[in-house]
Amino acid sequence: MGFLGEKDMFCCLPICSFRFTCSRSRGQIRFCSSSRPLSITTTSAPLFLRPLSHNTTSSHLQTFHAWAKSLAFSSNHPDPPHLIRELTWLLQDATSDPHTSFLQLGTTHPIWRVPLRVELKELYVLWKARVEERRPLQYIVGCEHWRDLILVVRDGVLIPRPETEMMVDFVKEIDGSESGLWADLGTGSGAIAVAIGKMLGEDGKVFAVDLSQTAVEVAEINVERYGLKDKVEVRHGSWFEPLEDVVGKLTGVVSNPPYIPSKHIPGLQVEVGKHEPQLALDGGEDGLHHLLHLCEGCLSVLKSGGFFGFETNGDEHSELIAGLMKTRWSGQFRDVKVIADFAGIKRFVTGFKM
Ligand SMILES: C[S@@+](CC[C@H](N)C(=O)[O-])C[C@H]1O[C@@H](n2cnc3c(N)ncnc32)[C@H](O)[C@@H]1O
Repeated sequence: MGFLGEKDMFCCLPICSFRFTCSRSRGQIRFCSSSRPLSITTTSAPLFLRPLSHNTTSSHLQTFHAWAKSLAFSSNHPDPPHLIRELTWLLQDATSDPHTSFLQLGTTHPIWRVPLRVELKELYVLWKARVEERRPLQYIVGCEHWRDLILVVRDGVLIPRPETEMMVDFVKEIDGSESGLWADLGTGSGAIAVAIGKMLGEDGKVFAVDLSQTAVEVAEINVERYGLKDKVEVRHGSWFEPLEDVVGKLTGVVSNPPYIPSKHIPGLQVEVGKHEPQLALDGGEDGLHHLLHLCEGCLSVLKSGGFFGFETNGDEHSELIAGLMKTRWSGQFRDVKVIADFAGIKRFVTGFKM
């Protein structure tokens, strides 16, 4: 996850999901064919999975759209055009119409009935929360598009970021990765674990670990959604503690741990700092608290030659960790590399246990 401060929103390259998704073509939302029905209640299900049990007229939706646009432009949000793109996605999720053609029908066929997944008045409430409280759209619609997945997310679980997608590519490149035992530490929504789980062969398995009970619940939902219960085992606990039975046996460990220095948290973009869980963000005084623990701990859980991949806060952290692997843990890791994300920020440290 790369996190932007409020003031950085226009000057940095896109590393936060809110701007990334604007370049992503977000067509009609559908889970892939291998996904399963959700074992969660209708009201906590992602919006697009709820039944079309309400309806309104096209002219009422047109009125909502005009109001929502004017709220976006009259707010003090730093990027109103992006909010308007999100408005379209909200309407796509709330209806069964990927082209939002009801907005044109509002003029030509004003009493045309449009099926809805929530009551129209609820759409007003949701949009006010998006604009006025800066609640992330992903929490409002209950999902995020990530790689080829549509992952359930909710309050208390980090919204997976686009740069983290690269972690799965690192795993894919490892010889024999399909049959290995993997751990995704701090799994959150289960994003990395589910993506790895999909690549595994018969003998492969991923342990998806998180300290947050909410994250564990959401990860389990996503694992079930993609029919991966035999490939991904979600475990509750702190970092390596739930992995005592596989010490020395893992083919690889990947982690996107909390890495924001505590003092930077108040300056984060409002959507992140106010709404995403502190447990997922706060990396302690210098942001390295968890990363250092992971470097040390992976030496015991990995088998000889095992792979590790860690996401960091960027250039300085990656270089520092790579340096420590050659000094503090001299002779214990090999082929340590610092890898840049899409934005050219040195985001990842990868390598192998000797
Ligand atoms: C930055 S989030 C990453 C979530 C997910 N892997 C992703 O990339 O979207 C860090 C995760 O680490 C979890 N976490 C924080 N402290 C932890 C600990 N001591 N043990 C295990 N997980 C922890 C948080 O709950 C959060 O889900």
